[in-house]
Amino acid sequence: MSTELLRLYEAERARMLSLDGEGDYQNPVFGEGPLGARLMLVGEAPGAEEAKRSRAFVGKAGETLSRLLDSVQLSRDEVFITNAVKFRPVTRKIKTVSNRTPKPDELLLSLPLLKQELLIVRPRVVATLGNTPLKALLRIAGQKSAVIGDVHGKSIETEAESFSFVLFPLYHPASVIYNRALTQTLAEDFMKLNVLIKER
Ligand code: URA
Repeated sequence: MSTELLRLYEAERARMLSLDGEGDYQNPVFGEGPLGARLMLVGEAPGAEEAKRSRAFVGKAGETLSRLLDSVQLSRDEVFITNAVKFRPVTRKIKTVSNRTPKPDELLLSLPLLKQELLIVRPRVVATLGNTPLKALLRIAGQKSAVIGDVHGKSIETEAESFSFVLFPLYHPASVIYNRALTQTLAEDFMKLNVLIKER
């Protein structure tokens, strides 16, 4: 891990401890993977298992993601994996704590770090998993917002601070847990992603 990234992560850790919204600010989850990775995967935000183990995509959605990576012979070690938001956003009821989608202001405040990760890792392809990171990356690139149903499996030529990369939107691996019809779509999009990475 680069010292520059580690410094940024420590600054984000400190920023989070000053937040007073609803989130697991004590247990942030940061990115991992090699600098210069061909592929950067960006999820939404950590879930309970990720916050517990301080690693992105190690819960149920992570199992699906690992299977998809295996299906195209990509190993986790060669990919940089991160999330748009680095803390687990939660809704607290009297007896339960459940995951929720990050709020627009939470996402907005998370963009500077995600942009720095992008500019430090410098991947050729950035695949977003779900709507939240898609919104984040399009915003970072100053492009018009889009929804996953319209753009999944398509390459979008993108630039941030003169760094050019291909944005490749994918459905979130958890979406296939709730919507079996997307299983095939996501598997096909992963195959297209694999071709794209090899070309770049
Ligand atoms: N979902 C995400 O978007 N990211 C994780 O790290 C885990 C589940």
